[in-house]
Amino acid sequence: MFADVPATPPDPILGLSAIVKGDERRERIDLTAGVYRDATGSTPPFETVEAATRAVVDDMQDWGYLPIAGHRGYRDRVSRFVLADAYDSVADRSWCVQSPGGTGALAVASAFARRVASGTIWLPAPTWPNHPAIARQGGLDVRTYRYGDETAVWGDAVLEDLAAAGAGDVILVHACCHNPTGNDPDAELWADLAALLRDRGAVVLLDAAYLGLGRGFAADRCAVDVMVAAGVDLLVAVSFSKTMSLYRERVGALVGVAPTAAAAANTLGNVEAVVRPMYSNPPAFGARVAATVLGDPGLRGRWETEVAALQERLAAIRRQVAAGLAARGVDLMPTIEHQAGMFAMTGLDADAVGRLRSQFAIYVLDNGRANLAGLADDAAIDAFCTAVATVTS
Ligand SMILES: Cc1ncc(COP(=O)(O)O)c(C=O)c1O
Repeated sequence: MFADVPATPPDPILGLSAIVKGDERRERIDLTAGVYRDATGSTPPFETVEAATRAVVDDMQDWGYLPIAGHRGYRDRVSRFVLADAYDSVADRSWCVQSPGGTGALAVASAFARRVASGTIWLPAPTWPNHPAIARQGGLDVRTYRYGDETAVWGDAVLEDLAAAGAGDVILVHACCHNPTGNDPDAELWADLAALLRDRGAVVLLDAAYLGLGRGFAADRCAVDVMVAAGVDLLVAVSFSKTMSLYRERVGALVGVAPTAAAAANTLGNVEAVVRPMYSNPPAFGARVAATVLGDPGLRGRWETEVAALQERLAAIRRQVAAGLAARGVDLMPTIEHQAGMFAMTGLDADAVGRLRSQFAIYVLDNGRANLAGLADDAAIDAFCTAVATVTS
């Protein structure tokens, strides 16, 4: 039977990253996978996360399984971290399930939606390419709503398309740092969206993989606050891959807010019922590390400062790219300075993307998305702006 198994195309992001690593030109610039890199081009640990890691290694007492929903301290601290000021008002009707990364949270949310909701999920167009794959693998019907382009969120189109959402449909919205455009809804659009989706009886699934990397923790949580205040049925898929540099430890969570304590208990029970046959229970190590960082006041404060430094560096790269393109008379990416997070759509077509690779050893995704954190220093930003100017002239 294996002889007849068809070939599959490489993953649009991780498949390309593997190709980039094979390009041995010294000037190579990798702007593909969404991994933070510092000015030396490496993905460093956070000092606070390293300290917490040592503490956890020194305190490995229990080697048995975690419960289906994961590490109790982690779940409690993640709920408080994500819900923040709203936590007290929803503590008895919210829950948190630890998951293997943000991807695991989205996969659990999809299986949960297939089990208890309408079976339809709405994804923004464009979105992270793994979203449709996760949803389809979870057995959901995928519909899309127009989200925007490289320069702006199309608020009217978002509301117009989602007015067709049905009761029990899941609506995925990027909480902040929209991947790939970097454009997020403003407060007014969040409020309109919350009211619309509550009235439609939809479930809002906020993908929160970059909390803190956009405009700071408080601003990046704005969507959570608005949705809780509006009383929508809410899921939040959380990831600490980027914000704690715990990529390979797979540290994530699915947080839920229900209208009543009884509804919360039932939704949590159904989430646990999809986790059990999927991966049974999550791995403990990374979650204990994250729980230590979130729960120790000293580490927590220093970690927030570390995240703020990453956020500021990304904002500085945006300012420099904007200035570099303007100086070369290139009118692509006109709003890059006002966007948030790691990504920007360059607006380059397939031919220009190909020339960036062949002539300059600069790699963006096929759709033109660039991970700005890959622009390590001033020289890389200069090289990028010059190359973009050349391939678009
Ligand atoms: C929008 C978005 N959601 C979720 C994830 C998943 O992150 P994780 O690595 O924790 O699975 C990513 C990772 O790139 C992402 O970009």
